[in-house]
Amino acid sequence: MADLAYFLELFIFILPAYFANSTPVIFGGGTPVDFGVKLWDRRRLFGDGKTWRGLAAGFILGTAAGFVVASYKASGDYFVLAPLLAGGALLGDLLGSFIKRRMGMRSGQPSLFMDQLLFLFTALALAFPVLAKPSPPITLTPEGLVFLVILTYVLHVGANWLANRLGLKRVPW
Ligand code: CTP
Ligand code: MG
Repeated sequence: MADLAYFLELFIFILPAYFANSTPVIFGGGTPVDFGVKLWDRRRLFGDGKTWRGLAAGFILGTAAGFVVASYKASGDYFVLAPLLAGGALLGDLLGSFIKRRMGMRSGQPSLFMDQLLFLFTALALAFPVLAKPSPPITLTPEGLVFLVILTYVLHVGANWLANRLGLKRVPW
């Protein structure tokens, strides 16, 4: 049965993905990941909202957050999870922008799934090899997955509202 301690464990486990997804808003900017390249539809590959500095900041800070967790847990698995969750979140964010551009959406235009949840699923996908080990550091139950989806959605909405109020983001999503 799912209990509060398990949900807290899940929150700590997923922190590298959250740090990777949120820090680019603060430290990003500069050269776009796609270098301005447009595709067959004459729309940008990713757009100006995805920058190299954002990727670097997200990967470094997301992994660092995971290393703090790993040290506290004294767990080798968590050291491996840190870059996987951070990298997975950043890949999902790029994939989301790629899909949004193909759908004709401009950078910054809101898309519930692509903005708020895709990064969680790609982070979990990259973490899968560690989670599927014979004795995994944490077990992801169906209730756990539902909890992560709701938590991610709520935190994302709250964080973006705050970033907008602080003048870090033009739009509150
Ligand atoms: N950012 C960045 N590099 C990244 C991700 C984000 O520099 N890899 C910065 C950009 O300044 C971006 C802001 O964080 O505008 C907000 O990120 P996000 O909401 O993911 O991008 P959007 O601008 O909304 O663009 P898109 O529609 O492509 O998601
Ligand atoms: Mg956005």
